[in-house]
Amino acid sequence: MTSDNPLDPGEQLTLDELQQLQLTRLRQTLRLAYDHVELYRKKFDAAGVTPDDCRTLADLSRFPFTTKADLRDTYPFGMFAVPMDQVRRIHASSGTTGRPTVVGYTENDLSMWADVVARSIRAAGGRPGHKVHISYGYGLFTGGLGAHYGAERAGCTVIPASGGMTARQVQLIQDFRPEIIMVTPSYMLTLLDEFERQGIDPRSTSLRVGIFGAEPWTEAMRTEIEQRLNIHAVDIYGLSEVIGPGVAQECVETKDGLHIWEDHFYPEVVDPLTDEVMPQGAGGELVFTSLTKEALPIVRYRTRDLTRLLPGTARPAFRRMEKVTGRCDDMIILRGVNVFPSQIEEIVLRTPGVAPHFQLRLTRSGRMDRMTVRAESRPGSSPTVREAAAAAIRQAVKDGVGVTVEVEIVDPETLERSLGKLKRIVDQREQ
Ligand code: DLL
Repeated sequence: MTSDNPLDPGEQLTLDELQQLQLTRLRQTLRLAYDHVELYRKKFDAAGVTPDDCRTLADLSRFPFTTKADLRDTYPFGMFAVPMDQVRRIHASSGTTGRPTVVGYTENDLSMWADVVARSIRAAGGRPGHKVHISYGYGLFTGGLGAHYGAERAGCTVIPASGGMTARQVQLIQDFRPEIIMVTPSYMLTLLDEFERQGIDPRSTSLRVGIFGAEPWTEAMRTEIEQRLNIHAVDIYGLSEVIGPGVAQECVETKDGLHIWEDHFYPEVVDPLTDEVMPQGAGGELVFTSLTKEALPIVRYRTRDLTRLLPGTARPAFRRMEKVTGRCDDMIILRGVNVFPSQIEEIVLRTPGVAPHFQLRLTRSGRMDRMTVRAESRPGSSPTVREAAAAAIRQAVKDGVGVTVEVEIVDPETLERSLGKLKRIVDQREQ
């Protein structure tokens, strides 16, 4: 890597070299998992496979899946493959119910993680000397610290703002003049509103690139953020169980989906119902196997995220994943029709008179489920504009998604704002 060539050696492998490396690393990972993690040994034995049965990359499909339940069942450290004195850091996802999911990293794991996040920042256009404002939460969540060490590894100057204290974040951006911001897209909207509240034109800031992830966001949201902030908005993907942020990243020059850093994370897409591996281009649930992790080797982890794999473009050897716009768990089945919050996001964001803030409320009357889209009016929208907006959203959901919903246009500044990952769905059906 030189200053005018931002690619590291891993990114310059040919497809043949990459696949050779993947097979070697895959076999090592399966061996590590089988020999050091009881759960893997039991699962492989039950499926009648041993690590030696993996002779080609396609053989991976013979191995059993791993799920979040496996991590919960072995809480807290039962899936670690190294002695505890080699574990340098722990992260955990809060989990909406029950025990959190705990993940661990050796020194080599932390270094690899910094490398893949640094690679992601360079793909987004970050260069040594840039200042990176990080508003992902610091702490057990992988977002803050993951982005932090990656940005340092990329030679950038880190501003570790973490989440919250929105007014102060705006002040820091004004005073420190970062080129790059790393934050959830929903918290970016909260920051944008705060800029405007303070009378600052967000297009006038020093920011040039935003690296947004940790939650689904649509092309409509990209347009909204790019226009209001006059930046490039690119997508970063990852999950704690696989490493954290930096599993895949969109390149700023193409903005055509996320290149998966396949020298470290091996992707498959499976049919969520039949578990069959899908061919390239077909949609399904994303599954990852780590190739270089030591503390927590992960084999065929079911992410619950829905996407499809596509051939590489800006990084030819690495496949791309299409933007994740839904999770199996986020799918609302409304009177038999599958609805994803991202479909509603596309519609709300293109409707005149409403702000990009909305919430989906689910209620039940009798045996009938109902969904109310609650969208916020833009300041100053007249009652006529609000009525027209409600009608337009209702019609667009009916035409585009195929269900009838209620629409409520609420006053500006009334819906809860995001401080990190936003919860869009308010489920009141059990009350
Ligand atoms: O959210 C890691 C991360 C931090 C990624 C910062 C990007 C930026 P978890 O808390 O374990 O880890 O949540 C992982 O978040 O399975 C997806 O459902 C969702 N997710 C993450 N990135 C994206 C994205 C972090 N770019 C879960 N688009 C994943 C859509 C995303 N969903």
